Parts: sequence; C-alpha cells; structure tokens
Amino acid sequence: MKKVLNIAIDGPAGAGKSTIARLLAQKLGILYLDTGAMYRAIGLKALRTGTDMRSETDMGRLLGQTSLDIRFADGCQQVLLDGEDVSQAIRTPDVSRAASDVSALPVVRLRLVALQRRIAAEQDLVLDGRDIGTYVLPQARYKFFLTADVHERARRRLLDLRARGDRDTTLEQVLEDVIYRDRQDSERKMAPLRQADDAILLDSTGQSIEETIESVLAIIGQGQHE
Ligand code: DC
Repeated sequence: MKKVLNIAIDGPAGAGKSTIARLLAQKLGILYLDTGAMYRAIGLKALRTGTDMRSETDMGRLLGQTSLDIRFADGCQQVLLDGEDVSQAIRTPDVSRAASDVSALPVVRLRLVALQRRIAAEQDLVLDGRDIGTYVLPQARYKFFLTADVHERARRRLLDLRARGDRDTTLEQVLEDVIYRDRQDSERKMAPLRQADDAILLDSTGQSIEETIESVLAIIGQGQHE
C-alpha cells in the first residue's frame, strides 16, 4: 500500500486550525480535509428534520437515511449532504452548536471516522478536528494541538462570521458558544478533545497566522516527509 503523509491539527474551536491547515496544505501541495464540516453537515440535517440530537436511536435512523460525500474541486473541499452542496449552509452559529451536540454520539462518530480514515488512506492530507491525533489517525506522521486564549478564539470566530456576512451575532454569543462547545467536546465519552501524548502543542494567543504557520513549517521541515 502507498505510504501517505497525514498531518493532524487538533484543538478547540477558534484556535485557527482551519486557516493554518488550509495554508499548510497549500504550501505542501496536498489537500486539506476539514473534518468538522462533516459533523456540521449531520448537525444541519438534524436541525432541518427536527431530530433529537441526544438520541442515539433517532440519530442512527437519520444516518441510515443520509448520504454524505466529500468532494475536492480545485483543491477545495465541498460537502454534499444528500447530493446538496451545503458547504456554506453549515457555517452558522446554530449549526456549530448542533455539530458539537451530534458529535457526542458514538453512532455519529463511528460513521464519520470511517469516512475520514477512508479518505486519509488514499492521499496525502492535512486534517483538522478534535480527535485526529488521538483516535482517527494515531499513526499520523505529524500531530499538532493548536490552542489559544478563549477570548481571542471568540474574537476570531466573530471576525469569521462577519466576513461571511453575519451582522447579528454578538461577541458575547460567540464567547458563550465557544465555552459551550469546549466543554461538551472535551467532556464527551467517545474520543473527546484532548492533546495526544505525542502531539506538539502550539499556543497561537497573540500570534499572527504567519507566525503560527512558520512554527509548523519549521517542525515539519525538520522531519523526513519527502
Ligand atoms: O471544527 P468545527 O468548529 O467545524 O467543528 C464543529 C464541531 O464538530 C465541534 O464543536 C466538535 C465536532 N468535531 C468533532 O467532534 N470531531 C472532529 N474531528 C471535528 C469536529
């Protein structure tokens, strides 16, 4: 089997994982897989159908009636939920929370982890998420755990939302959401958010994206990944 290069970037919401992962993938000329987008798509479907997000049985039934595909177009990930491209629709505060809720259920995680492993086995990837280094791909060549002060993470998330045209959500609401998700993602039973023992911890508080990416590239540059 071909040996692939997988780079895991885990950490809490708003730590800058997706920006760093995207830039890193571009620099290395490989794809970036946003695993949170998968949980968001399932959260979106649960919201749309009014499914009880705490019920393993109801969510299992919903998954049985759901097709989820990931496609890459010009290097960009598209998320197809029952054939519909939901890549934009999954970027709302309601869906963030729903994604965290549904991600606590083993029935959801097992399905999505299987998809993530299948994609990662086929190609070189930078993946971001919560459990990539601890659970999905414990053998990943490089593992990073990216974090930052909670207030800074909330401010970054708000800027993201503003850039997407959201004028209504307030900083207080984003902060509350980030705290809610940090807690739920870290306290769930299956594959909680946690730094892998062999992951490199990066704290991006007060750092620019360029500074963080330089730290990552310096570490990868020391490795033998070619
Ligand atoms: O990275 P994100 O904000 O798009 O993730 C949305 C939610 O999905 C997050 O609060 C927890 C869940 N998630 C997860 O449990 N495991 C992952 N690998 C990625 C995301």
